[in-house]
Amino acid sequence: MQILVVEGSTRTPSSTCEHVEALLAANHATAQAFHLRETRLPLFVDARVQGDWNLGPALEEMLEAMLGADLIILASPLYWYSVSHLMKNFLDHWTYYLRHPKYQFTERMRGKKFYPVIVGSDPDPAGAAPAFAAIRLSVAYVQGTPLPGFYGLGHRDGHATAETKAAIEQVVLAELM
Ligand SMILES: Cc1cc2nc3c(=O)[nH]c(=O)nc-3n(C[C@H](O)[C@H](O)[C@H](O)COP(=O)(O)O)c2cc1C
Repeated sequence: MQILVVEGSTRTPSSTCEHVEALLAANHATAQAFHLRETRLPLFVDARVQGDWNLGPALEEMLEAMLGADLIILASPLYWYSVSHLMKNFLDHWTYYLRHPKYQFTERMRGKKFYPVIVGSDPDPAGAAPAFAAIRLSVAYVQGTPLPGFYGLGHRDGHATAETKAAIEQVVLAELM
């Protein structure tokens, strides 16, 4: 099983990152990972009308990684009830992925599972609903299969809370496939 992690915290240490690392470690799994604060994707600009398909190396590398993955973990801190701007920018770039003439993006996303991991500071998961919805609907739009995902809690200092870290360690990746 090829696992890809795209992680959208703006800082290190990151409670979002810690949850994903705990999930992988508990499953003895390895994954290709992109930390968007390091990947530094260009800011999305809508050039659909001009048809500018030059994605640049970072976006192309991430697209190839998505095409090769069976399970894609989209992990983001909760920022104002939504995903972080880094994750949102990545999702915006899917607009080009799905139109690029060289790749049959939607055809090749079919059957791929997407597992969202959202980490906030509010114990009430209701505030994370827009973030989960944005990922679920975007994944469905490109013909992928969205999984319910996981809501974790982080501390101000960038570390995961012990309770939700222990809870994500109980998730069995093989059962998601
Ligand atoms: C700009 C900003 C907006 C935030 N908005 C929310 C929010 O709407 N709901 C919430 O529960 N936590 C919110 N938080 C808290 C973060 O989600 C929380 O600290 C999280 O653990 C950060 O993840 P990280 O450690 O991976 O960066 C916000 C934090 C920041 C910096």
